Amino acid sequence: MARGRDLFDLGGKVAIVTGATKGLGRSMARGLAGAGATVVVTGRRQPACEAAAAELAAEGGGKLLGIACHMGDWEQIEALVARVRDELGRIDVLINNAGINPASVPLTEVTTEYWDKVYGVNLKGPMRLAARVAPLMAERGGGSIINVTTAGAYFGGAGVGVYTSCKAALVNLTKTMAVEWASQGVRVNSIAPGPFMSEMMEGAERGQPGYQKGAASATLLKRIADCDEIIGTALYLASDASSFLTGEDIKLTGGMQLV
Ligand SMILES: NC(=O)c1ccc[n+]([C@@H]2O[C@H](COP(=O)([O-])OP(=O)(O)OC[C@H]3O[C@@H](n4cnc5c(N)ncnc54)[C@H](OP(=O)(O)O)[C@@H]3O)[C@@H](O)[C@H]2O)c1
Repeated sequence: MARGRDLFDLGGKVAIVTGATKGLGRSMARGLAGAGATVVVTGRRQPACEAAAAELAAEGGGKLLGIACHMGDWEQIEALVARVRDELGRIDVLINNAGINPASVPLTEVTTEYWDKVYGVNLKGPMRLAARVAPLMAERGGGSIINVTTAGAYFGGAGVGVYTSCKAALVNLTKTMAVEWASQGVRVNSIAPGPFMSEMMEGAERGQPGYQKGAASATLLKRIADCDEIIGTALYLASDASSFLTGEDIKLTGGMQLV
């Protein structure tokens, strides 16, 4: 029987982390590799994926492989799953982390292109990737899917309504995925991050000076987290440590008081 740190062991497992060239995805990829998983690092461009995989292997050891996949393109999603299946033979963990929060746009100025781009990458792509991966997990007795949402899914916000609404839909889809795939041993949960210091957070500050100060003060811990502070939660959800947890959205917010 596994006890203590054995519970978090991912030796022999294969994980895909989307959007792992930087930010939260990069931290989670390093964490999973450190726990023994072979990790597929994705992003939009092949050179960046390969560079991130090599840098992460040099930083923390482990086996990492970079494969480009634009999350707004279902054909690329299909190709990613086929290549991981053919080259690595299995998929045990999927972290649907890639996401975009482009320039702040009030609802009166939302275009169909903007809506489709944000929903395509943040919701439609993750749904499709999970739907292609879940049957492969089921073939081997199960797996763990983790969708990355946002604390903003619980309250929306001026100029970010398209982003926060698709993340709220992802919280809901997480529950449907959990319901549909539980009998096949596939657990599905999500992480709703509060403020973490990444390029996305830097972009928010550029678009709205003072954003970071406001975001930090909305947490009980009164700070913006380092990206590595998501690793523990990702390892918990990816591993047998969370074997009885499915359909949940874990709020990793430094204590933001969400309704
Ligand atoms: N940082 C925060 O405070 C915060 C808070 C709540 C939720 N989140 C969520 O956490 C996730 C990660 O955010 P982050 O802050 O780490 O963002 P980030 O620093 O901007 O990194 C985003 C990652 O996604 C990749 N990416 C962007 N567009 C993509 C696309 N179309 N297809 C595939 N990959 C794409 C990027 O890779 P390339 O540029 O190499 O393509 C990069 O690796 C997102 O889902 C975000 O919504 C973040």
